[in-house]
Amino acid sequence: MTEMTKATMLLVLAFILVAAAVPVAAGVAPYTAKDFSKLKGMPGFSDKALDLHFTLYQGYVKNTNDLLETLGKIAPNTPAYAEIKRRLGWEYNGMRLHELYFGNLGGDGKLDANSKIGKRLQEQFGSLENWQADFKASGAMRGIGWVVLYEDPTNGRLINTWINEHDVGHLAGGRPLLIMDVFEHAFIPDYGLKRAEYIEAFFKNINWPAVEARLGQ
Ligand SMILES: [Fe+2]
Repeated sequence: MTEMTKATMLLVLAFILVAAAVPVAAGVAPYTAKDFSKLKGMPGFSDKALDLHFTLYQGYVKNTNDLLETLGKIAPNTPAYAEIKRRLGWEYNGMRLHELYFGNLGGDGKLDANSKIGKRLQEQFGSLENWQADFKASGAMRGIGWVVLYEDPTNGRLINTWINEHDVGHLAGGRPLLIMDVFEHAFIPDYGLKRAEYIEAFFKNINWPAVEARLGQ
């Protein structure tokens, strides 16, 4: 095959790939990283660890945008398309879970037993202590991931859930109420391997009004 023929074939292939690509959400603005710098100064969280965490979060936002943009440019029914599709949920959930996590921090950690969320937790777990013990035990599991207190909108049930990495174990249609990051980057900078101490610090900074506002009606 001559060099000219090869070049022509490559041009034709490129044309076919671009022509076959499916545009993704044209006209929808890309995701932008939210500013959580107001969390700096939280007791039990060093500014250095938070800055590291904010940078990681920004990476998930960028990668989510990059993957969505790339999907709009490559042809379906190709290995590259399939792999990027598989990757999207991991990056997207990495972005959204961090937003929910930072969004339920910055409070005083005091859960009013007579608040709407306090009453719901007591009704379903028997006591706040029972709920908290189960949430903490979920966070102490070996592995990297998240603990999510979900509300099932079909019946109002509250369920403490383990999410492996960012994408495995979500309850479809569930409302995430309280999210705790237990990836190693969330605690090793300040606590080394003492994950339980990080979980205690997390609880002291929960913004319970923000959690309650996520409840369905
Ligand atoms: Fe994280």
